Amino acid sequence: MSGSVHRTMGQQSGRRSWAEPWKIKMVEPLRMTRRGDRERALAEAGHNTFLLRSDDVYIDLLTDSGTGAMSDRQWAGMMVGDEAYAGSRNFYRLEEAIQRWYGYRHIVPTHQGRGAEHLISQAAIRRGQYVPGNMYFTTTRLHQELAGGIFADVIVDAAHDPADRSPFKGDVDLGKLEKLVGEHGASSVAYVSLAATVNMAGGQPVSMGNVRALREFCDRHGIRLFLDATRLVENAFFIQEREPGYAGKSIAEIVREFCDCTDGAWMSAKKDSLVNIGGWLAVNDRSLFEELRNLVVVYEGLHTYGGLAGRDMEAMAIGIGESMEDDHVRSRIGQVRYLGELLEDWGIPMVQPVGGHAIFLDARAFYPQLAQDQFPAQTLAAELYLDSGIRAMERGVVSAGRDAVTGGHHYPKLELTRLTIPRRVYTQAHMDVVAESVKAVFDGRAAARGLRMVYEPRYLRFFQARFDPL
Ligand SMILES: Cc1ncc(COP(=O)(O)O)c(C=O)c1O
Repeated sequence: MSGSVHRTMGQQSGRRSWAEPWKIKMVEPLRMTRRGDRERALAEAGHNTFLLRSDDVYIDLLTDSGTGAMSDRQWAGMMVGDEAYAGSRNFYRLEEAIQRWYGYRHIVPTHQGRGAEHLISQAAIRRGQYVPGNMYFTTTRLHQELAGGIFADVIVDAAHDPADRSPFKGDVDLGKLEKLVGEHGASSVAYVSLAATVNMAGGQPVSMGNVRALREFCDRHGIRLFLDATRLVENAFFIQEREPGYAGKSIAEIVREFCDCTDGAWMSAKKDSLVNIGGWLAVNDRSLFEELRNLVVVYEGLHTYGGLAGRDMEAMAIGIGESMEDDHVRSRIGQVRYLGELLEDWGIPMVQPVGGHAIFLDARAFYPQLAQDQFPAQTLAAELYLDSGIRAMERGVVSAGRDAVTGGHHYPKLELTRLTIPRRVYTQAHMDVVAESVKAVFDGRAAARGLRMVYEPRYLRFFQARFDPL
């Protein structure tokens, strides 16, 4: 006997353990890789984890987008796809599910989130108008800019500070919004673009108090309020946990109450809704809907499929219902927290508090020796991959891209590397392996030299840029 006593996860935290509300019926074998293989693969990928082949990855934490595991019910739903070009029965099931759970009147299906962002931006932004938002998201801002809009960041200051532990770091600062409207006039604002949770801030939530105040502000100024509902279910969990008066309400009730404060929403269903592909756009205004329904046939497909197969719409309709279950959301966020708590105990610098879908490592704090244009977060993603075959993603200066007017780099305050946890895919043991790898890379941080960008695509450069080691 060594004298040490093994303890369960719950015992370590002084509470009863929880476990996932599902069991595993089918497995997908993973390929274990060796360091030499990974060095070769990373060099071929230009030190960009987006350019790795997934066969060269052990634990894939690139994104939670479309990477979740569908349930047996969703797979069964795939078998009842009605692949009619027009009027597929699965569209009506999807429409009903969105109306029931999110509460919007008019629905347009799209192939994924950015398809919806494209349509709403084209329909609701006039060239030169401002689009205030609670921090930028890559594809959202690009579509707003391509439509002639000017993005304005109106998130609370706390969101830009990784160490700030405020409970609702996704909130809009109404003072900033008031100032923008005061300076330019309400007619120069296309709409308020609200994301819940805020991906680029670390999966941080928006409070119900904030969306209510925004509704009131928008009504006063005659401005529309549109929601990026991609991770609203996760946002609802934080409201339930942290906001007075919500502990007794279900996730579904909170989601509905939140949506009722907005004029419409777009969705990447590849996240909360537990599908591998799909999205939608929903609005309450009939004439805007007519415009969107007209645009969708140009860019996505007929208004009853929007670029999706009937079977995909069925899986999405079922996934929406599953995503609203309290036990599911608790275990999903619980797994992210488990990894976060381990890393925090070990003194790893990261965004606090831990958000809904990912751990965001603070690459500036890892590598104070690197300037931001030596790409600390990209370097950290590369080092993690070399150490263990874990794939993470850069969320720093590369993702922020260039200023549409000056052409210079955007230098975001947050220089982060994201470990994104797919839904219902990995076990607690995988999380332990990830935590140990992050610790090993942290321990070796003094040796990091940074990267130089040698190829830069014009749009959304983080997907395809290439780097050389310095
Ligand atoms: C907050 C948010 N909005 C929109 C999108 C775009 O969705 P999609 O990748 O389905 O086009 C994403 C994708 O990561 C996202 O995280």
